[in-house]
Amino acid sequence: MKKQITIQPAKGKLGILTPGLGAVATTFIAGVVAARKGIALPIGSLTQMGTIRLGKRTEPRNPRINEFVPLTQLDDIVFGGWDVYADTVYESALNAKVLDRYLVESLKDELQAIKPMQAVFDKSFVRNLDGTHIKTGATKMELAEQLMEDIRRFKADNNCARLVMVWCASTEAYIEASLVHESLDAFEEGLRNSDPNIAPSMIYAYAALKMGVPFANGAPNLTCDFPAMTELAHKMKVAIGGRDFKTGQTLMKTIVAPGLHARALGVRGWFSTNILGNRDGAVLDAPENFKTKEVSKGSVLDGIFNAELQPELYGEIYHKIRINYYPPHGDNKESWDNIDIFGWMGYPMQIKINFLCRDSILAAPIVLDLALFLDLAQRTGLSGVQEWLSFYFKAPQTAPGLPAQHDIFKQLSKLENTLRYLMGEELITHLGLDYYEELEKEYEALLQVTA
Ligand SMILES: NC(=O)c1ccc[n+]([C@@H]2O[C@H](COP(=O)([O-])OP(=O)(O)OC[C@H]3O[C@@H](n4cnc5c(N)ncnc54)[C@H](O)[C@@H]3O)[C@@H](O)[C@H]2O)c1
Repeated sequence: MKKQITIQPAKGKLGILTPGLGAVATTFIAGVVAARKGIALPIGSLTQMGTIRLGKRTEPRNPRINEFVPLTQLDDIVFGGWDVYADTVYESALNAKVLDRYLVESLKDELQAIKPMQAVFDKSFVRNLDGTHIKTGATKMELAEQLMEDIRRFKADNNCARLVMVWCASTEAYIEASLVHESLDAFEEGLRNSDPNIAPSMIYAYAALKMGVPFANGAPNLTCDFPAMTELAHKMKVAIGGRDFKTGQTLMKTIVAPGLHARALGVRGWFSTNILGNRDGAVLDAPENFKTKEVSKGSVLDGIFNAELQPELYGEIYHKIRINYYPPHGDNKESWDNIDIFGWMGYPMQIKINFLCRDSILAAPIVLDLALFLDLAQRTGLSGVQEWLSFYFKAPQTAPGLPAQHDIFKQLSKLENTLRYLMGEELITHLGLDYYEELEKEYEALLQVTA
C-alpha cells in the first residue's frame, strides 16, 4: 500500500556549513555559484542532473530527482565554514588550483565574501598542517560552545531557515573508539576534561547535533560514527551520515567489483596505488593519517566479495592500497589498479585500470547532494544514521552490527527506493513478471477469439 509521508517544504534559505574550506569545499562552492550564474553545469550531482524511474517500465515517468522530491534550490543556499587558515574561499580556491584561474576570477565577488570562521584544531591529529586561524578555550567543551555560538550567529546573520554541516576538513590521525565514545554522558565528561581521544571533528559534530543541525562526514575519521554520537543524534532527532566521500579509485572499485562478483569470477589480488599532490595528499603523507584512510578504503572489497560465502573465489584475495604524495600532480590524482582474476577451471586473467581523475571535481557534487538530502531527511523527520546515503561513502555508517552495503548499484537502488517511499510511489524490485503475466492473458484472450 502506498504511504504518503509528510515532508516540510523547503522554504527559506539553507546554510551549508563546512569545517574545512580547502580543495573540495571551495570547488563545491564555486560549482554551485557557477551553476546559479549559468556558467557551468552541476555534473556528477544526482540531485541536479539525475532522473528517477517511477511506476512501470512502460509508463514514461522519469522525472528529474529535484522535480520529484522537494529539495532546496541552488538559489536558496548560503555558504559558511571554518578553516585553520584565514584565506577567503576565493584565495583558497586559487591555492587549491583545481579550477582554472579565469573561472575563479569570474566568481571572485561571491567567493571573496566567504571568510572562514576560526577553527577548532589540534595538531596532534593533523601534524602536517600549521594553521594559525584557531580558537582557544580552556576545555574541549568550551570549544564546542564557541562552535555553537558560531552556528547561531551564522544562522541569524544570513537569515537561514535551516542548516546542515558537511565535514570537508583534513583527515585526522587514526584512533579507535574507546570508553569516552561509548555513551553521551562519558563523551560530555570527556569534553569537560579535554580527553585526548576526542578529535576536533567530534567537537564539530557534537556542536552541530546539539544545535539540531544534520551532519555528514566526508573524511574517514570516526567523527560521528560511535555510540555517544548516535545517541545524541537520536536524542536531538537529527540526521547523520558518514564516512569518507566515495570518489576516484574507490568509486571505480565499487563499480567494477560488483560486476566480477555478479559473474562469479574469482579474484586473487587487487593492488591499488595512487599519486596525488594536493594538501590532502600532504596530510595523508603522515602514517597515522594514512592509516585512517587505509582502513576506510580497505573495507570496500570485503563487503562486495564475501569470502566466507564463496571461499574458493574470494578466500585468498590480497588487497593492497598505497597513496603517494607527489606534488607535481596537484589535485589531479592518478590511480592504477592491477586486478588478478580467474575464470572457468581457474584460468588466470588480469585487468588494469589507470584512472586520471580530478579528486575535488568528483567530490564537490557529493557535498551538494549530501547537504540537500540530509536537509530533506531532516524535514521528513528522519533522524540518526541515514544509511540510504551510503551511495556517497567509502565506509558507510550503519546501525550497530549491520554490515555496510558497498555495491554502488545496490546503494543506488536503496537511495532511489527511499525517495520513492518518501513520496508514496511504488518501490521498484525489477522483478518484471507482471509484464509477461499480462502478455499471457492477451494470448489466451486471442486464442479464445480465434477458437
Ligand atoms: N577529494 C576527494 O576526492 C576526497 C575523497 C574522499 C574524502 N576526502 C576528504 O575530504 C577532506 C577534504 O579534502 P581536500 O582535498 O579538500 O583537502 P584540503 O587539504 O584541500 O582541505 C582541507 C582543509 O581543512 C582544513 N582543516 C584541517 N583541519 C581543520 C579543522 N580542524 N577545522 C577546520 N579546518 C580544518 C585545512 O586547513 C584545509 O584547508 C579530506 O579529509 C579528504 O581526505 C576527499
